[in-house]
Amino acid sequence: MIAIIGTWKMCREGLMEAHEMLKSGACAADAVTHAVVRVEDDPAYCSVGYGGLPDRDGHVMTDAAFMDGTSLRMGGVMSAENIKNPILAARMLCGREINCLLAGRGAELFALRHGLKMRDMRTEASMRRWREAVPERPERLTAYTGHDTVCVLALDENGRLAAGVSTSGLFMKDPGRVGDSPLIGSGFYADDRFGAAAATGLGEDIMRGCLSYETVSRMKRGESPQQACEGALRELAARKIELGENADNMSLIALSPDGRFGAATTLPCFPFAAARGGESGLYAVDGNGLTRAISPDELAGVD
Ligand code: GLY
Repeated sequence: MIAIIGTWKMCREGLMEAHEMLKSGACAADAVTHAVVRVEDDPAYCSVGYGGLPDRDGHVMTDAAFMDGTSLRMGGVMSAENIKNPILAARMLCGREINCLLAGRGAELFALRHGLKMRDMRTEASMRRWREAVPERPERLTAYTGHDTVCVLALDENGRLAAGVSTSGLFMKDPGRVGDSPLIGSGFYADDRFGAAAATGLGEDIMRGCLSYETVSRMKRGESPQQACEGALRELAARKIELGENADNMSLIALSPDGRFGAATTLPCFPFAAARGGESGLYAVDGNGLTRAISPDELAGVD
């Protein structure tokens, strides 16, 4: 069985291509990388890669990670500037036993030394957005209009799972701020034996429940990917509400070793793309765990 799932409508085109790759025998790692690169390269998607959301000082600083579910190795970059495809750096770093998670200048030097393309990740649109926001920087930052990290999980015909995530993080974040995305267990996790999971939304909240590891851990204990996503999210959201806090911006996806997928959200509606065997589609899950197929034109304004 082959399967692939990714967050938000923005991953749809790359994910469909990656699905074709899997059908032709590509490995999960290549499929994940392809789907994430497609989003990073497209300036129309303003929360990932080129044209991403700037920080308070007007810099587009990216976080990305890659995990191989067979070896349990991961690689990641955080607070990295001008790496054209942060996911490619993360994937390369995943091969390393040590020094596999690099921040800032170290990540940029790694990319340069390994021949990865560099580019100014700012676009006219991203700088316009920044200039307009500077005078009224909000006190409580939220992920940009309900979408942020692209997360992709894939299962190949050899039973290998891989996870990849990439984001420019929170709009107008403090310089150096890092969210859940490059942090193993919070933004992503993959283990061929039990499943893979990844999270999108407000990183500061997601980290507090190590949501991706918690989801895979529930699958290890026998829950389906859907039960695991809902259970992990419900538990953290309930605790946050007990503490008098909001829990309104977290979403999860998961994939099991036999190709079943799950998704859950605390948003009113969270779109994702998925493909399993020969079938593929775009879906949305609501806060009650109900998933329905949607058309690309639905949920206007949400990428
Ligand atoms: N979930 C992405 C971030 O908070 O940076």
